[in-house]
Amino acid sequence: MDTNRLSKPIEDILNKQVKKEADAAQTYLSYAAWADSEGYAGVANLLFRHSGEERNHMMKVIGYIQERGGRARITALVAPPKDPKNLQECFEKIFQHEVDNTTAIYEIVNLSQKEKDWATWNFGQWFVKEQIEEETLVMDLLDKLKIAGGPKASNASLLYLDNKIGKQEDDADLARDASVDNP
Ligand SMILES: [Fe+2]
Ligand SMILES: [Fe+2]
Repeated sequence: MDTNRLSKPIEDILNKQVKKEADAAQTYLSYAAWADSEGYAGVANLLFRHSGEERNHMMKVIGYIQERGGRARITALVAPPKDPKNLQECFEKIFQHEVDNTTAIYEIVNLSQKEKDWATWNFGQWFVKEQIEEETLVMDLLDKLKIAGGPKASNASLLYLDNKIGKQEDDADLARDASVDNP
C-alpha cells in the first residue's frame, strides 16, 4: 500500500528546498568565518548562529517529507560563494540570498495551491512568515551599516556596530506583532 501523501512534483520541490537550506547554512558559515577573520567578532557570532537556523529549516523540511510518507534526499552541497569585499557587500549578498530563498518558498506554496495540497500549503506558511523575518533582519543590518557610514564607515563606528550586532536578537520584530505601545 502506498502511504506517500506527497505528489512526485511536491516531493521533488521539497527536496530541492532541503538542499537550498543546507546550502544557505554553508554560505552563512563561510561568511561567518570571513567576518571573524576580518575582526568583526559580533557579525561572525550572528552569522554562525544564523547558519544553525538554516540547518533548523532544513530539518523541518526533511521532517515534513518523512512525516507525509515521502523520502527526504540528502545530496552533495554547492561550494559557498567567494568572500565578500567588505561588510556592505557581505550584507547585500546575504539580503539577495534571502530574497532568492523567499522566491523558492513561494514556488512551493504556488505548487501546493495548484495541486490543492493544503497540508503542504499550510506547512509552507511557516516559511512564508520566517522569510519576512529573515529579510527584515538583513534589512536592519543594512540600515545600521548605512547610519554608521556605509562603505565609508570609520573603524570606530564599525567597532561599535559590530558590538551591537553581536548582541542583537536572532529574530526581527514583525509588523503583525506591533501595537501603539510597542510600535
Ligand atoms: Fe532558511
Ligand atoms: Fe534564511
